[in-house]
Amino acid sequence: MKLPVKMTINGQKTSDEVEPRLLLVHYIREVVGLTGTHVGCDTSQCGACTILMNGQAVKACTMFAVQADGATITTIEGLARNGELHPIQQGFWEKHGLQCGFCTPGMIMTAYQLLERYPKPTEEQIRHQLGQPLPLHRLPQHREGDRVGRRTYGRKEVRGRHGYRRRGTALREVDQAP
Ligand code: FES
Repeated sequence: MKLPVKMTINGQKTSDEVEPRLLLVHYIREVVGLTGTHVGCDTSQCGACTILMNGQAVKACTMFAVQADGATITTIEGLARNGELHPIQQGFWEKHGLQCGFCTPGMIMTAYQLLERYPKPTEEQIRHQLGQPLPLHRLPQHREGDRVGRRTYGRKEVRGRHGYRRRGTALREVDQAP
């Protein structure tokens, strides 16, 4: 059984019939053909699939396409205007803000949401919103040699959008700390 679903994606109206179990990210990529939104973990951990739905950043692998019926969606393809990169995209480009680049669309969409909420964010707000742990010396529980305390705080600090990989990074940093 298929269900009708309508959305506005990057200003374009879509209308399709989809299986109720089809994830929104697969709808965007495979039905609509916008492949800039990536699937990393498929389990709501990495944030590579982040899009804006009605102005809110959401992970498109965590919801079904039918749940977005009637929504206004913005994907990474919707940021550029008239062939000009969005300032956030330009910033990532100029500062080479990526590693392999696979999750970069999700990072950019998350950064977009961040700047909507905090037009002039502090470093802590940026780190919190993007899921990066604070430096060890700034953690309130930090005590020299207390690896367990730092590890626990690190896990709390990085919960959220980019949880899994960042958690891994945090733990490696903790493990290598003096
Ligand atoms: S693919 Fe959606 S959070 Fe990783």
